[in-house]
Amino acid sequence: METIQTDVAIIGAGGAGLRAAIALAQADPKIRIALISKVYPMRSHTCAAEGGAAGVIKDDDSFEQHFHDTVGGGDWLSDQDAVEYFIHEAPKELIQLEHWGCPWNREADGSVAVRPFGGMKIKRTWFAADKSGFHILHTLFQTSLQFQNIQRFDEYYATDLLVDDGRCQGFTAIEMRSGQMRCFKAGAVVIAGGGAGRMFPFNTNGAIKTGDGMALAYRAGAPLKDMEFVQYHPTGLPNTGTLLTEACRGEGGVLLNKDNYRFLQDYGMGPETPIGKPELKTMELGPRDRVSQSIWHEIQRGRSVKTAWGDCVWLDMRHLGEKKIDERLPFVRDICISYLGIDPVKEMVPIRPVVHYMMGGIHTDTKAATSLPGLFAAGECACVSINGANRLGSNSLVEILVFGKRAGLSALDHARSQKPGNDAALTTLADAAQAKLRALFMRNVGKESISGLRKEMMDTMEEGCGIYRTQESMAKTCDKISELRRRYQNVALHDKTNVYNTDLLSALELGSMLDCAEAVAVGGRERKESRGAHQRLDFTARDDSKYLKHSMAYYNGLEPPRIDYRDVVITSSPPGVRDYSGAKK
Ligand code: FUM
Repeated sequence: METIQTDVAIIGAGGAGLRAAIALAQADPKIRIALISKVYPMRSHTCAAEGGAAGVIKDDDSFEQHFHDTVGGGDWLSDQDAVEYFIHEAPKELIQLEHWGCPWNREADGSVAVRPFGGMKIKRTWFAADKSGFHILHTLFQTSLQFQNIQRFDEYYATDLLVDDGRCQGFTAIEMRSGQMRCFKAGAVVIAGGGAGRMFPFNTNGAIKTGDGMALAYRAGAPLKDMEFVQYHPTGLPNTGTLLTEACRGEGGVLLNKDNYRFLQDYGMGPETPIGKPELKTMELGPRDRVSQSIWHEIQRGRSVKTAWGDCVWLDMRHLGEKKIDERLPFVRDICISYLGIDPVKEMVPIRPVVHYMMGGIHTDTKAATSLPGLFAAGECACVSINGANRLGSNSLVEILVFGKRAGLSALDHARSQKPGNDAALTTLADAAQAKLRALFMRNVGKESISGLRKEMMDTMEEGCGIYRTQESMAKTCDKISELRRRYQNVALHDKTNVYNTDLLSALELGSMLDCAEAVAVGGRERKESRGAHQRLDFTARDDSKYLKHSMAYYNGLEPPRIDYRDVVITSSPPGVRDYSGAKK
């Protein structure tokens, strides 16, 4: 097997991975950086982000307010030391991106423009029309090209971490183009592999978001934290799940039920505000968990709009006018016309909540270090945790920058402090990983189909771990996922060729999703309270006495994960009441 010897290896070349690579390259032009990605970097899911990135920049804003919005928005499950670090680094990162060429929108006076976003009680979301992710990713990618010491390995799929002497020292990966296995030996590894929303049937996520990075770390012994917290974005296109950015509401769009009534005022997000003049703190600018839950209730009450794709509510942007929509939301207009045949300038758009983001992920500390020495993680695959039980829109595009950089620099410190590993031991581990893969590849007796198992997984996740959950629904899902993980051992691979074997890739991705799905379902079943995005019909209140804690899921082979708990870090904001009523304090 060919070996690539490097100082730091990064798995994932979206926003977090690229930011880590740039930080490393700038810190030391002599170190070797291997940047591995399942796809060409510009196809990473960061590209799909629309609305923008939050950072304090205006005189009427403050770090204190960003801190409180984030911690309250997360229903007090965020680690407040991480949030403090994050909010202070955020504007520096956004200005840095500007210097690297990111075309942020401007106010009339030439200063950076900011827009309102859900749960942010002050306007602080920087944006580039509604293609912010595309521009951020492009800026990072083109910047990374300046550095000779970033060596890219595009279209490589990492299969196993190499852990020897109690520390992570590399991994194996398949070069998809040839089907050959490669061994990456490294002083430190950063995982920046994105989320796992594809375990649900209806989601905004690119097809690549299958939790591979999370599963890699989990199987190697690093726990997954707070996996039960899955974010539903309120405004997905009802047929494809494509995101219609929260900026639609930030710019003044409103949500209406079948009677054209702005129902959010009935769910603690009133009083009603003037149409077209979004009032911060209330109505359509409530946080995502609350808005999605309100739509769920409207559906239960029979006040939804019936469509061919199920129950929806209306997103009305007509009053914004063509000029504003074309300037601020051109992509949204394009998406609505292309996929629904509806022009939001002229008609209301049916929308429904859609799985968007995993608050949980690989447990890291504020230095982006996992509990496995030598392994670091950043971005959606990680849980540091700034997002707690519910992430506020536009915090994640900054999280990938702040903690991507942090992960890169921490990995460098670690790599420099280590003596060389035992080369022969790593080679033996890599050979074992290859043998395992070969066994899957050569299996002829498998009777389970990849698509069949995937469909059953998605269905049970939606049924058991959707917007509202119960003990019974989650217990059923736990049992089902456990069954599917066993049946997965018999999955059949029909394509036995080497070049771009997507059958093999799909099988590996399914394995990752099943592992992550079990952590979501078991974590949810064990958390007997309602908090943020984890809402239970049988335990409707938040219970700080028992659950002001992070859940930690430990991999346990084919058995369900062992769940443990870890205290939340509170520095200055004791748990309080989340208030989106617009009431003046
Ligand atoms: O609605 C959006 O534009 C999504 C933003 C985010 O998830 O941060």
